[in-house]
Amino acid sequence: MQRIEIKELLATASFGDKVNVKGWVKGFRQNRFIQLNDGSTINTVQAVIDFENTDEALLKRINTGAAVSIIGTLEESQGAGQKFDLTVESLEILGDADPEEVKKTIISPKAHSLEVLREQAHLRFRTNLFGAVFRIRHATSFAIHKYFNDKGYYHIATPIVTGSDAEGAGEMFRVSTLDPKNPPLDENGEVDYSQDFFGKETNLTVSGQLEAELAAMALGKVYTFGPTFRAENSNTARHLAEFWMVEPEVAFNDIIDNMDLAEDFLSYICQYVMDNCADDIQFLNDRELKEDSKKPMVDRNPMSLIERLTFVIENDFERITYTEAIDLLRNSKPYKKKKFKYPVEWGTDLQSEHERFLVEKHFKKPVIIRDYPASFKAFYMRLNEDGKTVGAMDILFPGIGEIIGGSQREERYEVLLEKCKAFDIPEEEMWWYLDSRKFGTAPHSGFGLGFERMVMFTTGMSNIRDVIPFPRTPGRAEF
Ligand code: 4AD
Ligand code: MG
Repeated sequence: MQRIEIKELLATASFGDKVNVKGWVKGFRQNRFIQLNDGSTINTVQAVIDFENTDEALLKRINTGAAVSIIGTLEESQGAGQKFDLTVESLEILGDADPEEVKKTIISPKAHSLEVLREQAHLRFRTNLFGAVFRIRHATSFAIHKYFNDKGYYHIATPIVTGSDAEGAGEMFRVSTLDPKNPPLDENGEVDYSQDFFGKETNLTVSGQLEAELAAMALGKVYTFGPTFRAENSNTARHLAEFWMVEPEVAFNDIIDNMDLAEDFLSYICQYVMDNCADDIQFLNDRELKEDSKKPMVDRNPMSLIERLTFVIENDFERITYTEAIDLLRNSKPYKKKKFKYPVEWGTDLQSEHERFLVEKHFKKPVIIRDYPASFKAFYMRLNEDGKTVGAMDILFPGIGEIIGGSQREERYEVLLEKCKAFDIPEEEMWWYLDSRKFGTAPHSGFGLGFERMVMFTTGMSNIRDVIPFPRTPGRAEF
């Protein structure tokens, strides 16, 4: 008999239908009611078994966590909260789950902290919470591909192993096949990477941007969506050592076009998940409200998850320059009361305490800050007319911080060459990138969206480790 998935069953089946459902037991009450979930939706189907006419040994094996296959007929449910009861005609155990073992895991039906769930990341897919999170993660990813495809962008695969440090931050993981105990040395006693696998020093990519720019200079509109690695020792709720980044790059776009694209893109993603993940969003929305009700007023979210998504769909972001941000901060209460830990001075980078003040306290909405000082931004950003700032833009979200970083690129060969020199980037390493400014160079812009930070926003989860199946962070690469 053909198996039907629960999502489809709930949407299309009728009373009297005979169906085969396969899934995992979520709960078994009164030796009679089996809650079954198969991952296709957060919703369960209730199967009703006639225990008086069922073998005792079989009943004992219907435990939370077990995988079962049920054939039965759909009838109108007598209970509240569901349409169907699946009257069991035959039940087969596909995989047992020992109740004593289950008790020791997060599969057991009681509340477990997010920390404990993380330690059992191999099992947390089974929880309602993580089922919802990972279905929304999928929809968020699909929305991104759909957005670009519908607008005529081409998806470009950029290398994961690379010889360049696109962001110039030096936070890279080395890729090498040399014997760490006995590496070949050159005449200066340094490791001789010319004898390494690629004949040079290589690392895991921190960004696909530089390669995407080359593609944009021919295909016009492209985007990358790939794993990205940063060996920064940041043990925060919004940093991963391995994360996914989405990087559109568009020929002939200036920084204003770039901001318009980013805003439209973000609100499209929010609309898509609202339209396609209604049950999961509602579940996470209600869960957050419940969690918030246990917290003191000041720690609660000022808006619910659904309100936050709707806000991004319906409202424009605030747009200010870095210089305006510095003025705002220096005139702010926390600055005057010396509440900021880090200095607020034109020429120094904004710290997360400053960004949070602007986004969460002052504007209370997403903010785009642009035209940062050239001194602390990447070498490839376009120098503005003032000679001091570059056409950079950061998009900051409440509760998340920087979700997008982007810029208009320096398309002028001479200026870029000077920048490379100033940043100590050897010309012979960047020859291919510089070449793109020699043959039909053109203004172009792009940005990078941290995919997990976006999923934090679409799910409302407040720790980035809870929106990627197997998080990699300093000291942790389990599973
Ligand atoms: O601001 P970033 O470093 O920008 C770039 O890499 C540019 N090459 C992008 C471009 O213009 N094409 O990173 C972009 C975004 C950040 O805004 C943030 O959302 C995310 O990537 N990100 C991280 N997400 C999780 N963990 C980390 N360690 C992250 N570092 C950056
Ligand atoms: Mg950035």
